[in-house]
Amino acid sequence: MRSKILWTSNVTKSFGGVRALKGVSIRVDEGSITMMIGPNGSGKSTLINVISGIYKPDDGKVFFNGREITGLKPHEIFKLGLARTFQIPQPFTKLTVLENLLVAYPNNPGERFFGALRRGRWMKVEEEAVEKAFKILKLLKLDHLWDQQSYKLSGGQMKLLEVGRALMSDARLIMMDEPAAGVNPVLAHEIFKRFRELKDRLGVTFFLVEHRLEIALRYTDYVYAMANGLVVAEGVPERVMVNPQVVEAYLGG
Ligand SMILES: Nc1ncnc2c1ncn2[C@@H]1O[C@H](COP(=O)(O)OP(=O)(O)OP(=O)(O)O)[C@@H](O)[C@H]1O
Ligand SMILES: [Mg+2]
Repeated sequence: MRSKILWTSNVTKSFGGVRALKGVSIRVDEGSITMMIGPNGSGKSTLINVISGIYKPDDGKVFFNGREITGLKPHEIFKLGLARTFQIPQPFTKLTVLENLLVAYPNNPGERFFGALRRGRWMKVEEEAVEKAFKILKLLKLDHLWDQQSYKLSGGQMKLLEVGRALMSDARLIMMDEPAAGVNPVLAHEIFKRFRELKDRLGVTFFLVEHRLEIALRYTDYVYAMANGLVVAEGVPERVMVNPQVVEAYLGG
């Protein structure tokens, strides 16, 4: 049996009268692609936000890599190797693909480094970082775009760049909320194929929320199905998708 890298125990979270999470316990195995599915408003994003430290749970606990992380601040959780990707912030889209990775490098000396980047002197600053960045870009098949400004990337390439930035920061687990949203089917398949390669080559773990099941499930090791703030089914995709409660949650509502 694989070892778990992330797990929650009975997490609850309410917003005023809305009970978004009513006691959620999940476990994500190291080196897996684990997916959370469920209808709109079932609590998926709330769980991601609790795990990444954006919301404090009302009750329950979150563990990562053997230690409790409940209530830690987002940047503290990130430093432990649990990255949640957001859209690349606006100022960074003017930077090239390579520069976007370099600024995510944990040992970058901050302001000075950023200033050097702007002046195009990054090469001298961090040879080691550049080497690491190219290794990651190759895995993502973005290396040919290294000096392209990021705003010129397609939506799908931008998602991969977000993953690249997480890998550059030495993330062991990457959480993404709907990585395939708004991406054409061909590229969506490409994204999930890259995830599988990264998992196989680097042992990195993915915990994803996704609505596009027809694309995502074939790349997934394990699925949690949520409905109304609760996990209603879990298991391998073939099993979960024929579970009566899952069928009910999707079609019955
Ligand atoms: N910040 C908030 N303030 C108030 N209510 C919230 C907040 N965030 C989420 N909720 C409510 O909590 C419930 C769960 O929302 P959540 O966003 O977690 O669902 P979801 O499964 O991610 O849905 P979707 O598939 O549409 O993204 C919903 O009823 C939502 O309206
Ligand atoms: Mg959501």
